[in-house]
Amino acid sequence: MIKRKKIKKVLLPLMVFASTLTFVSCDTNKEKYEVSDMVSNANNYILENKDSITSEYRNTYHLSAPIGWINDPNGFSYFNSKYNLFYQYNPYSAVWGPMHWGHQTTKDFIKWDLEDVALAPDKDYEKTGCFSGTAIEVDGKLYLAYTAADEFQNQALAYSNDGITFKKLDELLIDGKTLPAGFSNADFRDPKIFKRDGKFYILCGNKSTDTKQIIMFKSDKVDGPYTYAGSIYSRTDVAGIFECPDLIEIDGKDVLIASPQGIKDDYFYNYQNSDSCVYLIGNLSTKTNKFFKDINVELEEFDKGFSFYAPQTVKTTDGRNIMIAWMRNWSEPNTTMELGWCGSMTLPRELTLKDNHLYQAPVREINNYLKNKVEIKSESLDNTTKELDNFSGVTSKISLELDIADLSSNGKAGIEIYKNTKFSTKIYYDKEKESVVIDRTNCGSLYDGKRYCKVTSDKLKLDIFLDVNSVEVFINGGYYTMTANIYAPTDAKGVSLFAKDTKANFSNLEKYDIVVR
Ligand code: FRU
Repeated sequence: MIKRKKIKKVLLPLMVFASTLTFVSCDTNKEKYEVSDMVSNANNYILENKDSITSEYRNTYHLSAPIGWINDPNGFSYFNSKYNLFYQYNPYSAVWGPMHWGHQTTKDFIKWDLEDVALAPDKDYEKTGCFSGTAIEVDGKLYLAYTAADEFQNQALAYSNDGITFKKLDELLIDGKTLPAGFSNADFRDPKIFKRDGKFYILCGNKSTDTKQIIMFKSDKVDGPYTYAGSIYSRTDVAGIFECPDLIEIDGKDVLIASPQGIKDDYFYNYQNSDSCVYLIGNLSTKTNKFFKDINVELEEFDKGFSFYAPQTVKTTDGRNIMIAWMRNWSEPNTTMELGWCGSMTLPRELTLKDNHLYQAPVREINNYLKNKVEIKSESLDNTTKELDNFSGVTSKISLELDIADLSSNGKAGIEIYKNTKFSTKIYYDKEKESVVIDRTNCGSLYDGKRYCKVTSDKLKLDIFLDVNSVEVFINGGYYTMTANIYAPTDAKGVSLFAKDTKANFSNLEKYDIVVR
């Protein structure tokens, strides 16, 4: 926690002097850097004001900031024997503003410890903010590559010994003025830094007049100089740019991840939000500097709900690929603004590759927090609603199966959550549309609309995670996911099953409370 760290700073000289003291951890022995006034001011502001927020709507097992606004996850990495997540952060207000990098650490992806703010826009070259980016460990130092945003966007680098205090290079890492002719240096951002075959690479989102591209730079050293290597992937049907590129290796394949702003597609079930998140399976060639997609694949959308953006991944020490995303989308209303905070991250998700498709599973550590199991073997309904009194609650995991082959051709059947006498959010199968639907038109707040996810299997299995103001739905073992913010009245804790214009057979219903605190 920020508070504890402050105390440590005062005690540190004494502790080092009394060098026989064994409780001084390795972390505190690592050199700390002097932080700028802007970083100290942010830390002090958080300490002094964090208790002023209204906390009744806050998630319990999802990461959110103590106060203020957050958006994209940044610098997801393993350093100092912990997983580190940084994030786009405006501590001073619950709206987007001068971007800092907030920082939290975890050992199990569920319980997070608040750390000091890592970056503040304190250099002349970044007056608008320290925008999104990624992290890499090299020779015991953690490096953060980020976008120094101003009238133009350039890439910058900060590094740290202790993983808490960061020092920035005096010069920019990649100056947008060096881009090839016709490439925009106003939209040039979100560096993904990685190492391959002894060289360092950086991917960034960028555009030129007609095309929107992910471009790559190359260097022998982590801190540059970087030279332009090429445009690894481009499209003409994206309105903005590909934000927040990421690249992971799974089972010998490269998976390119990005968040296109306004991608066009006529297919009803795709890209229902203003900004989307996609992945492409293939191979990145560092010889031709191109990303070659596999023959039988196209861009796939990560999440079919409302509230999922700018995902980022980390490789765990036991070899898993864990993804986390901002649990919100730019087009969603800022409903919690008046409560002094806005935004949280999704549940971290384990990615696995099977049959040319990425499956997403809730990070397995969440199972350590499942308590008070309730189950119902089966339940058959005929055009009716049934309250499930034992399933009520808003910090829980609910699983169910539904025979969708049996439903009548215009039938709808599923579950209502966050329910009181007036409001509810529905998650159901719509037989006519052959899709799972999240409907928050009557959830009790500004949030509205429906999102669809086409599913044609005979059976439907849903694993649904509720956390006070959110729902994440894992469909058929994580083949698809749907994520949504729900801002329901605080007494809306009921859960019921329903079947409309059909009979419906539900089975293997389970509910656990998720108890983290
Ligand atoms: C994505 C994004 C990034 C940018 C950051 C600014 O949500 O627009 O492209 O770096 O947010 O906060």
